[in-house]
Amino acid sequence: MQAAPALRAVSAAEKFQLPLPLPQVLSPYSTAHGVDRYRLTTRPARAQILPGIWTDVLTYGGHFPGPVIRARSGRPVSVEHRNALTTPTSVHLHGASVPADDDGSPMDTIAPGATRRYTYPNRQPHATLWYHDHAHHLESEHVYRGLSGTYLLTDADEAALPLPTGPYDIPLAIRDAALDTDGQLLYTMGDFQHRTTLLTNGVAYPRFDVAARTYRLRLLNTSNLRSLRLRLADSTEIVQIGSDGGLLPHPHPTDTITLSPGERADTIIDFSRYPLGTQLVLENTLLSGGPADQLGQVLRFDIVRTAPDHNHIPPVLRTLPPLPHPTTERTITLSMDETATPTPRPTSNGRTYDPNRIDTHIHHGASEIWTLTNTNNTPPHNLHLHLVQFRILERNGQPPTTPETGLKDTVNLMPGETVKIQATFNTYHGTYLYHCHLIDHAAMGMMAQYKIT
Ligand code: C2O
Ligand code: CU
Ligand code: CU
Repeated sequence: MQAAPALRAVSAAEKFQLPLPLPQVLSPYSTAHGVDRYRLTTRPARAQILPGIWTDVLTYGGHFPGPVIRARSGRPVSVEHRNALTTPTSVHLHGASVPADDDGSPMDTIAPGATRRYTYPNRQPHATLWYHDHAHHLESEHVYRGLSGTYLLTDADEAALPLPTGPYDIPLAIRDAALDTDGQLLYTMGDFQHRTTLLTNGVAYPRFDVAARTYRLRLLNTSNLRSLRLRLADSTEIVQIGSDGGLLPHPHPTDTITLSPGERADTIIDFSRYPLGTQLVLENTLLSGGPADQLGQVLRFDIVRTAPDHNHIPPVLRTLPPLPHPTTERTITLSMDETATPTPRPTSNGRTYDPNRIDTHIHHGASEIWTLTNTNNTPPHNLHLHLVQFRILERNGQPPTTPETGLKDTVNLMPGETVKIQATFNTYHGTYLYHCHLIDHAAMGMMAQYKIT
């Protein structure tokens, strides 16, 4: 047995000191011929996760997490990535419909010192996407150390809605981390237990100075293994307006947002209900046996000024096309050996990932129903499909609740749960992944491939 590492607990005095970093929007170096072209170098850097302490991290272009890429449906984006690390990388745009060669496949890596270009056609509706490393067996540590960023795809339908924009439309990428006594990131694959510090946009327990008006907050769970259940400290209303694949058909007023790793929730919070000077903590109530003083708080909103507000939430956000008639049904079982730490051998349908094996053959144009089951007793899993946005038909035999009625690319599966989804494979041909997005599980083998022909 390894000795337990000495962890640094963040003190009350250190919390809510650093301002929330507003992610940098990357500027294209060229917009010629209808394509936005970007360059990013993957390189080590140092970031201020805790006040006054510099932590070694991995970055896209020096930013922890990576910069925001803003894109528009119908207008391609092309990103040239240079790998200045000593390990291979691969960049995947999560939630995107892209040709297989540009999908950032685990074996299709960028060697240290090499450069390659990924092109994203953006032939899909608006969505809150994110990009992250996917190099085989390294993705877990790479993502943990900082290799992820937000990709906001908009379209005319979304832009026509009176939702908050500009400084009032903010991605909040939330994740856990284990920090040692020097404030450095500790990484061991599968080490859920020690990752008890919560970071938002790269800072532990930041403070977000907001105006007393509505904000659109795009919540992303970019943790490797940790699911989050978020609420405001006073349990007041958060309106969920979107999920992984863009807006929901209707807004969903709630007091709780649950996100497993890789999932996104698009939300509106109206801070005009608070007097100036109010401090409001965003809490996490899913502690999973960890320390409440570290895992129970995420960030603090300080309502510090007034601002005009002409935004509101329309009762109808979008209309989704009717589901096509399904042509095929499959079952996928996710499980791992719960007793065999630290190598639990996570599997899908009893097999671990083999890049030379196609697990599922799909006919181009097929619309398929997949019945997914987590057969474990304790560990949660989820399932993420590359290339497609799917619909949830049933969760444990019941119709989906409103937050699951939109387009999804990742679906949570608590122990024992069964979910039916429907996906239509009518865009590109080729080989794509599906896997548990508890990234350490995927890295240990809970990952498979489908081929569309
Ligand atoms: Cu977030 Cu294989 O993906
Ligand atoms: Cu993906
Ligand atoms: Cu899993």
